Amino acid sequence: MSSAAELPRPAQDPSRTGVAPAADEAAANVEVGVGGRLRRTERGASEADQLDGQAAERPYPGGIPDATVARLPVYLRALYTLAERGVSTVSSDELATAAGVNSAKLRKDLSHLGSYGIRGVGYDVEYLVYQVSRALGLNQNWPVVIVGAGNLGRALANYGGFVSRGFRIAAMLDSDQSLVGRELGSVIVRHVNDLEEVVASSGIAIGVIAVPAAAAQAVCDRLVAAGVTSILNFAPLVLNVADGVDVRKVDLSIELQILAFHAQRRTAERFGQGSDAAAEA
Ligand code: NAI
Repeated sequence: MSSAAELPRPAQDPSRTGVAPAADEAAANVEVGVGGRLRRTERGASEADQLDGQAAERPYPGGIPDATVARLPVYLRALYTLAERGVSTVSSDELATAAGVNSAKLRKDLSHLGSYGIRGVGYDVEYLVYQVSRALGLNQNWPVVIVGAGNLGRALANYGGFVSRGFRIAAMLDSDQSLVGRELGSVIVRHVNDLEEVVASSGIAIGVIAVPAAAAQAVCDRLVAAGVTSILNFAPLVLNVADGVDVRKVDLSIELQILAFHAQRRTAERFGQGSDAAAEA
């Protein structure tokens, strides 16, 4: 059993004789990970789940299908939870249950990473964390800039969990002069006028937009012009970006609305009533 205190760190190659992949295979997987496979349109977190069963598995010579990429973070989260509980090996059935997918799909997904498990034993949790992290490009720390040091930006900056998942908040920017110079999490807020300099000097890979909707497109344009090609957008609008830029949108209200739909349907079923929405579903 692995120690719960020693959560597998994706940045480290376990370097096990006989199971560690060849370096060129590792590089190939990193290349075909998130950066290479995500679409250039906005796609919310819930859509990753919707991909389940909908996206046709298309040919992927040397690559990983989009639908698989969308499920890898879910596997990773389940694996972290298992590791925290001290579980060192897991069967495909157990991992599939923990991740909420069927085990045949899980085995196929993991086979894209060259991970097949051992018959009768299952998967080594620590090594699988390494393999999935590597495929997602998480075996390095990605410097992230958060633009907008308001309620949301502050919460993100103060969340300690990003570091252990391969992300480092390298900078925080805001247009409000009264916030500039304040320490948030591990960074000092700088003025958004410094955006281009911050992106260049910190080698920013990912920009997080946590400004009001009215300011978001302009912030996005500046991030992209400065060379950022991966953007996580919290503002409630659809950003226009050029080809080659990946934008993911997080919208908790959409998640809540989907939950409301299911709650409504369950209520209707419980009381034997039809509702318009349930009838159409
Ligand atoms: P807030 O008003 O507390 O913070 C916004 C910050 O952005 C302020 O500090 C403001 O000075 C700064 N700002 C405004 N224009 C700027 C610019 N051009 N450059 C740099 N900084 C600028 O707002 P809050 O609550 O933090 O929300 C931020 C954004 O996140 C909003 O668009 C909000 O709708 C969205 N949001 C999204 C959620 C989601 O589930 N996707 C959940 C909560 C908020």
